[in-house]
Amino acid sequence: MRINFKLAKNPSPKISFVFFIFEADKISDQPLFKFLNKTESDYIKNISASIKIKYKDIKVFALPGENRKIIAIGLPKEKNFSGEKAMFAMRMAVWAAKKEKIAEFAFWVCPVGSEEKTREFYESISLNAVTANFEFIKYKSGKNEHVFVREIQAICANPDKNIAEGFKRGMTIGEEINACRELANTPGGDMTPQILANHAKNDSRGTKIKTTIFDEKKIKSLGMGGIIGVSKGSAEKPRFIIMEYWGGQKNEKPVVLVGKGVTFDTGGLNLKPDQAIYEMHMDMSGGSAVIHSIRTAARLGLKKNIVAIVPAVENMPSGSSYHPGDVLKTISGKTIEVLNTDAEGRIILADALSYAKKYNPKLVVDVATLTGAAIVALGQRYTGLFTPDKKLEELFRKLGEESGDKVWPLPLSEDYEDEIKGTFGDWANVGKTRYGGATTAAVFLWQFTKDSNGQLYPWVHLDIAPRMTAIEGEYLSKGAAGAPVRLLVKLLEKF
Ligand code: BES
Ligand code: ZN
Ligand code: ZN
Repeated sequence: MRINFKLAKNPSPKISFVFFIFEADKISDQPLFKFLNKTESDYIKNISASIKIKYKDIKVFALPGENRKIIAIGLPKEKNFSGEKAMFAMRMAVWAAKKEKIAEFAFWVCPVGSEEKTREFYESISLNAVTANFEFIKYKSGKNEHVFVREIQAICANPDKNIAEGFKRGMTIGEEINACRELANTPGGDMTPQILANHAKNDSRGTKIKTTIFDEKKIKSLGMGGIIGVSKGSAEKPRFIIMEYWGGQKNEKPVVLVGKGVTFDTGGLNLKPDQAIYEMHMDMSGGSAVIHSIRTAARLGLKKNIVAIVPAVENMPSGSSYHPGDVLKTISGKTIEVLNTDAEGRIILADALSYAKKYNPKLVVDVATLTGAAIVALGQRYTGLFTPDKKLEELFRKLGEESGDKVWPLPLSEDYEDEIKGTFGDWANVGKTRYGGATTAAVFLWQFTKDSNGQLYPWVHLDIAPRMTAIEGEYLSKGAAGAPVRLLVKLLEKF
């Protein structure tokens, strides 16, 4: 599913074209029009009088004679165009090409302002082409008949090195987003904490990432009673995955990414009902995202220090499961009163967030498919953003818009602490009411990022449950969406 981006002055003969057309513009004004032969251009001129390409349209024209097509993608009016609309347009183009079984096409490019803007714009273009090309076909027989886009020719009058550089970076990031989706999509029967750990290990090969795996014995000896507690019901032993990338200055503090790695969430003894359990093999999407974000950073050679941590467990009901009412002692010394075994993500993250302190981080970002309540609050288009730091909130919102991994702030306030005060333990793992579940989960996590002296480190929590799967109209294939890898990569570059 790799796409080869080729920058050239002329398209190869007989190749199909993609035209991106601003509303009110004519097909015959497209720069690539001049590469059509006379029969073809006469044909288009003839029919174009009666055809209007509106915003969001996808129209396909089979040209006479040769077996080539023009795919016309409708953009908004030029004044309403934006980076986000460009991302969607590119995904639409690749989506349409696949549907038409077009494995190669050409489109017109030109610099878009400063060198940096041009690089960023074309990074986004190639990235979105690559992610639109992905489908999870590992388990399909007959996958060789599947048509994917293999080559995209970017035609310009003066091939520009910033465009080429943007394409290259976008391809790298796009490939890692797809790898994140492939991993998250893997069915629960083929994904265990050990398999996830092996994946992290394999992914560090050929990079400067050093990966360490703690087994159950080590997790126990460190006092991570939260992780041990949640894992008890499963025949699969927990793992604690640590990936370190020291690409920056020796004395520079790292950014630590923490990802929820529940390889399957049945809910435990508080078993989930039929519909709710269905997609819970993707409950390690946060873990998958941080593994592939640090790998992207390594592949791009970022001069930064980064650590990714994934507590990995399977949450199962059995004779050895943890029980509602159990009190678990975490590595911080604080205890958790388990009121619902289905609120397991916050329990394992409690240990991981305390462990992160050891790195003296300049920032910790945790990423988790944490609550259904976040989906209720936000729908499926924005990730839930929680942080005690207003500046970080602003930064994440900005990076969210730029990356397409959009995030929206929800309250994180001490007001809610009353709702999760434990009766027999320090903190209860669910709130006293059924309201505001995304916030009570975040406020619970918050307790493990601070002590009596205050915040242990600057911290951001991303509840990616809303963005776990791609939705209709996004021009991404069904299944894991790969959020928020691109946002995290932008953060790692800029923070
Ligand atoms: N993994 C789920 C949250 C989830 C739900 C993610 C749907 C993606 C899609 C989490 O572990 C969970 O079960 N949360 C419970 C918490 C409740 C028991 C307080 C929930 O959201 O229902
Ligand atoms: Zn759960
Ligand atoms: Zn879960």
